This record gives sequence, structure tokens and C-alpha cells, in this order.
Amino acid sequence: MLTATDIRVMIGAREVLHGISFTAQPGSVTAIVGPNGSGKSTLLKAMTGDIPFDGTVTLNGENTATMKPWELAAIRAVLPQASRLAFPFSVGEVVGMGLRQGLSGGQTDLVETALARVGLGGFAPRFYQELSGGEQQRAQLARVLVQVWTPCVDGTPRWLFLDEPVASLDIAHQLTVMDIARSYARQGGGVIAVMHDLNLTALYADSVAVIESGHLLAQGAPDAVLTNAVLSRAYGCQLQVNHAPPPHQIFVLPHGARA
Ligand SMILES: Nc1ncnc2c1ncn2[C@@H]1O[C@H](COP(=O)(O)OP(=O)(O)OP(=O)(O)O)[C@@H](O)[C@H]1O
Ligand SMILES: [Mg+2]
Repeated sequence: MLTATDIRVMIGAREVLHGISFTAQPGSVTAIVGPNGSGKSTLLKAMTGDIPFDGTVTLNGENTATMKPWELAAIRAVLPQASRLAFPFSVGEVVGMGLRQGLSGGQTDLVETALARVGLGGFAPRFYQELSGGEQQRAQLARVLVQVWTPCVDGTPRWLFLDEPVASLDIAHQLTVMDIARSYARQGGGVIAVMHDLNLTALYADSVAVIESGHLLAQGAPDAVLTNAVLSRAYGCQLQVNHAPPPHQIFVLPHGARA
């Protein structure tokens, strides 16, 4: 289980997160949604130990503040919102960086397996910089996957922290990536994904947290959280939550949408 308790983050003189408490279960996809600038990436960075914060984060029962970087790297991998590379690495080298960070070291065949999983089979020798935006994003996901390839080891879950994993992907690759996330969770791992697409969130998330202005507005099952009231308050615009025919999949439309 992941618990984040009373997380406060100061950036300069400004408090960006005002005491957020959040939980995520292994075996589940937990989505974090909310408007631009609301603090989603900041919360993710606090939970992964990448920025200083007040409060407590525990991962599998252990306080992350007391864990060594290599202990953290063994059980969680992080896909940042933006990844820039200054050097002309090949795609295979980029994905192989995940192998070196995690415990999967030596399993070089994992690189090709992970690339194939994200739809980039055969891309390993190509220069990363020459890939399209969406291809680069999927190569980064492959890097993250090889770091914690096995979702659950001896009963200990591993965790994927994904900041907007489908942001620049076409609809088919959005589904590929969300299927990977769901499959990771179904095999006992934990997945925490920052999302903007509320319909994909409704389709794939087991739990949804809504962040607004540095506060947690709501967290729970998609049916309970993705409501007109919560979403309209979070985003400051009128949104209409609808239900498709059985199995009653939720879908969200802007209030003024016309057929
Ligand atoms: N390095 C920084 N320096 C100054 N302010 C920052 C920094 N990082 C984040 N902030 C501020 O903190 C707030 C939260 O930013 P954060 O990146 O967490 O938002 P977000 O919810 O991830 O938004 P988006 O959907 O646009 O990615 C914003 O007001 C942002 O301007
Ligand atoms: Mg962000």
C-alpha cells in the first residue's frame, strides 16, 4: 500500500500543496486528476521522493524518507511529465537506463521485450532524438517498465508512478498504455497515474483522486468521484457525467457539447 499523509510542499515562498492525504492500493490503478497547476505533478514528485516535503509517505509500509535511493529504485519507477535528453542516445540505451536503475540488471532481452510491449519493436538501434513525440514517450515508458518489470516479487508489490503517460499518444496507443497499466496492477503491482482524459480515467481507474488548488477534493471509486458536482467544481466549467448502456460505463462531456 502507498500512504501519503498531510503532504505539504513549499516552492519558494509559496505553499503549493496544503496538506494532502492520499492512499493507493497494489492491484489497482489509481488516477490523479485535476486542472493545470493544481499540484498533481508536485504530489507525484513528493510521493516518489524527488522533492522535499512535509508529511509522511510510506510505500509497502516503509517510510520513504528513510529508504536509500537504490531501495526505492528497486520497488518503484517514475515516468516524469517531460523527459529531455541532451545526448544522442539510441532508443535501446535509453530503455537500458531503466535496467541499470532497477534490479533487472543483466536481462538485456528485457529491452526488446519492453519496446515491443509499447509498440516500438525493432526501434532499439534508432536515435532517440529522431523519434516522434509519441514514440519518445512510449520509449520512456519502456525504460520505466524494465526498471520494475515484475509487478510483484515474493508478495512485495512494485509501483509505477506515471505523470500523464498518454499525453501525446494517439487513441490506439493510449489504450495500449492504459492496458499495460491495468495488466501491471492485475498482476499485483501498484499504478499511480496522473491523467487529464476523464473518459480514459473512468475506463481504467479503480480509484480516482481529484486535486484542486493544492487540496484533495475527493478520492474514491470512479462512480463516486466523477460526478457533475466534483468535476465542475474542480475544473471551473460545466461538465456532464453520462452513463452508457450496460455495463454503464461513465463518459464525460462538456456542458455545451453538440452532436
Ligand atoms: N519549479 C517550480 N518553480 C515554481 N513554481 C512551480 C515549480 N513547479 C511547480 N510550480 C507551481 O506549482 C503549482 C503546481 O504545479 P504542478 O506541476 O504540480 O501542476 P500540475 O497539476 O501537474 O499541472 P499540469 O496539469 O499543468 O501538469 C503550479 O502553480 C506551478 O506553477
Ligand atoms: Mg503536471
